Amino acid sequence: MTKIVVTGGAGFIGSNFVHHLYAKYPDYQITVVDKLTYAGNLRNLESVLRSGRVTFERLDICDPAIGDAFARAEMVIHFAAESHVDRSIEDAEAFVRTNVNGTWNVVEAARGHKVSRFLHVSTDEVYGSLGPQGRFTETMPLVPTSPYAATKAASDLLVQAAVRTHGFPAIITRCSNNYGPYQFPEKFIPLMIVQALAGRSLPVYGDGQQVRDWIHVSDHCRALDAVLHGGRVGEVYNIGGDAERANLDIVRTILKTLGRDESLIEHVTDRKAHDRRYAMDSAKLLAELGWRPQWNFEDGLADTICWYQANQAWLAETRSGDYRNYFERHYVHREKTFAL
Ligand code: NAD
Ligand code: TYD
Repeated sequence: MTKIVVTGGAGFIGSNFVHHLYAKYPDYQITVVDKLTYAGNLRNLESVLRSGRVTFERLDICDPAIGDAFARAEMVIHFAAESHVDRSIEDAEAFVRTNVNGTWNVVEAARGHKVSRFLHVSTDEVYGSLGPQGRFTETMPLVPTSPYAATKAASDLLVQAAVRTHGFPAIITRCSNNYGPYQFPEKFIPLMIVQALAGRSLPVYGDGQQVRDWIHVSDHCRALDAVLHGGRVGEVYNIGGDAERANLDIVRTILKTLGRDESLIEHVTDRKAHDRRYAMDSAKLLAELGWRPQWNFEDGLADTICWYQANQAWLAETRSGDYRNYFERHYVHREKTFAL
């Protein structure tokens, strides 16, 4: 069995990636390390935790004792982070702690256990904001705007420093905005779906003409898989969805799909220092590993809307906060390491 550690595996992308690994690699023993902050939901992993091939450890990546979880691990993929820009504008302390200090702690633990491959999941937001033309390439300077992006840039650079200084076998991916199943409904697309489903107003920041390059989370997982197994150590790979859309256009599509009126759109005060446009050039990933996104954005969005409609129980539990009791209900009497 090959042991792989997935930090942040109870969050949105991490849990999708665990499902991907689980289905594709029957000989992998997957250890999920997650603190279960408000963004972590163990329900996302319910079906695979029953298998015995996926184990869960409730750990803070800042904990100096985290190293034990990395014993005999061949690979580590590091998702754990504070991830919401608006929260980082309110208070960045947890972002500095987890994204910067926590990442360094994870790197040191992985280095101590001599893992043979480490994939750091970074973001396009480290590049800052684009004007109307051009796309981000891997060689561009990092000029992050928000406190979230600044802490992700710091962690990205710390991983690069470990590669150069210690020969640490790390690879970095920088991906654009994800959407799909299990995304916490504070992020733009699931929030708008939830509001539209309930007939409540949809809060659009400023003029709604900000552009993001949207990628379905399953395409992101396929790219991470390709890089983890075939990427070159020390390299950075951009991952984009090839789907630039303005926020307001997405809101209109969601309303139309759900048969709701555009009068539900409410323009609210813009986010501070709101990045205007992100767009990724993923040519390197295509050239080296033959990856390209498979989802067309409109199909992916329709599929995601269906997922939220079909998973009302998940949504209700997420909105009520009850998902946070799931861990205590199922595991409080056990050791901190377990499989269902
Ligand atoms: P998320 O917020 O849904 O999940 C983050 C997970 O990390 C949660 O399960 C949370 O409990 C865990 N976590 C947070 N702090 C922790 C700590 N101190 N110790 C252990 N676990 C902790 O985030 P996501 O959207 O799934 O993003 C995952 C990664 O991908 C992040 O590193 C993010 O920066 C990056 N990323 C996200 C996007 C996107 O569009 N969502 C795009 C590019 C890159
Ligand atoms: P978000 O999902 O927070 O991702 P990011 O800021 O990391 O790109 O937001 C995506 C876009 O949607 C961004 O331009 C901000 C905008 N937005 C709104 O207009 N209203 C909202 O309520 C939220 C959460 C985001």
